[in-house]
Amino acid sequence: MTTYLEANKQRFLDELFDLLRIPSVSADSAFKADVRRAAEFVRDKLTAAGLDKATLYETPGHPIVYAEKIVDPAKPTVLVYGHYDVQPADPYELWESPPFEPTIRNERVYARGACDDKGQFYMHIKAIEAMVATSGLPCNVKVMIEGEEEVGSDHLGMFVTQNRELLKADVILISDTSIISNETPSLEMGLRGLSYVEVQVTGANRDLHSGVYGGAVANPINVLAQMIASLHDESGRITMPGFYDNVVELSDAERAELAKAPFDLEEYKRDLGIKEVMGEAGYSTNERTSIRPTLDVNGIWGGYIGEGAKTVLPSKASAKISMRLVPNQTPDEITDLFTNHFRSIAPPGVTVTVTPHHGGMPYVTPVDSVEFEAASKAFEDAWGKKPIPTRGGGSIPITALFEKELGVKSILMGFGLDADALHSPNESYGLFNFYKGIETIPYFYTHYAALKQ
Ligand code: BES
Ligand code: MN
Ligand code: MN
Repeated sequence: MTTYLEANKQRFLDELFDLLRIPSVSADSAFKADVRRAAEFVRDKLTAAGLDKATLYETPGHPIVYAEKIVDPAKPTVLVYGHYDVQPADPYELWESPPFEPTIRNERVYARGACDDKGQFYMHIKAIEAMVATSGLPCNVKVMIEGEEEVGSDHLGMFVTQNRELLKADVILISDTSIISNETPSLEMGLRGLSYVEVQVTGANRDLHSGVYGGAVANPINVLAQMIASLHDESGRITMPGFYDNVVELSDAERAELAKAPFDLEEYKRDLGIKEVMGEAGYSTNERTSIRPTLDVNGIWGGYIGEGAKTVLPSKASAKISMRLVPNQTPDEITDLFTNHFRSIAPPGVTVTVTPHHGGMPYVTPVDSVEFEAASKAFEDAWGKKPIPTRGGGSIPITALFEKELGVKSILMGFGLDADALHSPNESYGLFNFYKGIETIPYFYTHYAALKQ
């Protein structure tokens, strides 16, 4: 195995570069053909790795790539999930090298999708290739790589529901999360859910002269700013009545356990260029980004933003708002709560509409399972250290759906770092992490095959 990985190192990276050159931005229809090209690339690499039945399954959106290798029906089956779509690369001018021309600097690959998730799911294809080529697969493997994760996995849910038999597995293995650092490996045991809405505040039936009407007619931007500001109180708590009703509070023992993960607040602030952190009173930075729900404005617009000054009292103002959810909040319940609350706080001079976007359930996986143990032992073998169990702040909504539809738990064996700048300009992935991931994954299969018997 080690010899095979060493001998093929450069080719693995060259192939990843080819994949990163394809701008598979799922959100923007201008890239639709590129998204398909990425799917075809993945399909062909799955075949080359020795998997059978590599196929593109069409959906009303982007295709789902699927392949499998059943070595022995009596052996456990691992279902690998990942996504070949990426976030838009904007703003382009902030990239030091073009987002779809992968470049190595400081032992890191810079490109959109380098870590999220092309670099991470590609490790699995190479690890499977290496196992097939050397000792053989210790487990059956199914691989499903989708193209709509970054836009809410709209069609994957339907695909999973309609293909329960095809996707039947004992565990789902996902590399699409982060570790604490390369010195301190960790395994995420939870992800937050998501409720995402767009709001629009409308005042007068047209834009008005701000001198002639200002002061007498509601200004939708002023009103929206006030409404948004009222959603948090001075202690950083969300003011919406009922918002925390279903939140599971962790016990002091659970919080103490999570607090054992090393964290350097000064380094965190230095990295972000901020003087102070802020958030809900009574919780640490790590808790604020993992076990607590949050509400953030992701975008806000309205009125005149062109060059110079235009004196105008706009007719409309809008914002996009995301809420990260924790067990046992559900996106449906929170979206309803938000819609009713936001409408109720609107002053009489405006009308408010709330449009829901995609959402997702929070997810927590038990740590006392053979699946988690196999992942933990795999890290120990490859990194020489036991990984620290953590709760993550991001969302992979499909994990909860896998559990509901297939009755199968997900193991979040991610190898990224927060510093990889996912979704930001200059996204990157460490060469160390790429190769270490390929080395870690086969250990999971070996331990899982042994533990699951
Ligand atoms: N890979 C991320 C999620 C993630 C990142 C989890 C880092 C843990 C650590 C995933 O691609 C993602 O970006 N998910 C979206 C949700 C989706 C519904 C758009 C997110 O978290 O915003
Ligand atoms: Mn991802
Ligand atoms: Mn992402």
